[in-house]
Amino acid sequence: MTKVTIEPVKEHIGGIVHVDRAHVCDDDVVEACREALEDRGVLVFPRANFSDAEQLSFTDKFGERVSFTGTVPGGEGESEELYKITLDAETNPEPEYVLGTFFWHMDGVTIDQPLPKATMLSARKLSPTGGQTQFASTFAAYDNLPDEEKQAIDDLKVIHRMIASMRPLYLEMPAERHERYTSMATEMVHPLVWTQSDGRKSLVIGTHADEVMGMSISEGRALIARLTEWSAQPAFTYSHEWQDGDFVVWNNCGVMHRVIPYDSDCGRMMHRTTIMGSERLGVPLKQLENA
Ligand SMILES: [Fe+2]
Repeated sequence: MTKVTIEPVKEHIGGIVHVDRAHVCDDDVVEACREALEDRGVLVFPRANFSDAEQLSFTDKFGERVSFTGTVPGGEGESEELYKITLDAETNPEPEYVLGTFFWHMDGVTIDQPLPKATMLSARKLSPTGGQTQFASTFAAYDNLPDEEKQAIDDLKVIHRMIASMRPLYLEMPAERHERYTSMATEMVHPLVWTQSDGRKSLVIGTHADEVMGMSISEGRALIARLTEWSAQPAFTYSHEWQDGDFVVWNNCGVMHRVIPYDSDCGRMMHRTTIMGSERLGVPLKQLENA
């Protein structure tokens, strides 16, 4: 008998995982989920109700767990690999890092390490309004570009900066944090089009994408904005309406995500774990400048 079935949501993105929670960490189930993640981009385990220990067990079965948020509020709890995403002021006195997730992004792009392969969220407390997490397949976005546009962007490189992902919040952010968010990350240069080890191509874009090398700032940002809008069209996106206890996994290497704004005092809480990727995609800008 098949222990797990994955029901597609849309042609290009999304899968609902049907599995008995007693079997979720079985080798064959985890392998089926790994394969489905490549095809579906986002996997939803409806009302899985995992405890932290169960989420960590599944995460560890799935791949190599990684933490890259030890220096931001919510990232220094009992387990540094389990990051608490909330705007609740008691847990998170510096909300900017989470407010930045209102905008399309990929995780871990401005860190000098392989891009995280997958991000996993458990819903612990929902917001009464807003709070849907949206996903956009940049595999589908690239695949469906006209050939001449693919050729025009295939060899471009982009400088990614943490401060760029904070730019939408810049005017409401205390000035002393500008330097903090600049210094806590690395300016990274990534290819705009990522040819992955299986030959598929995805776009590496999001609010952190700051400058296209060889273009003026305005021309480069306009290109990124157009590609972001293209990627966010309904055919390539899935919007997750959370239910209590939902567990969601996405392929951070080919999917952008964002959250629909929610009230900061509603107590919304997600517990996040992250899987390390295997490919070091870009290089620090400094390394290029010194070469
Ligand atoms: Fe994120």
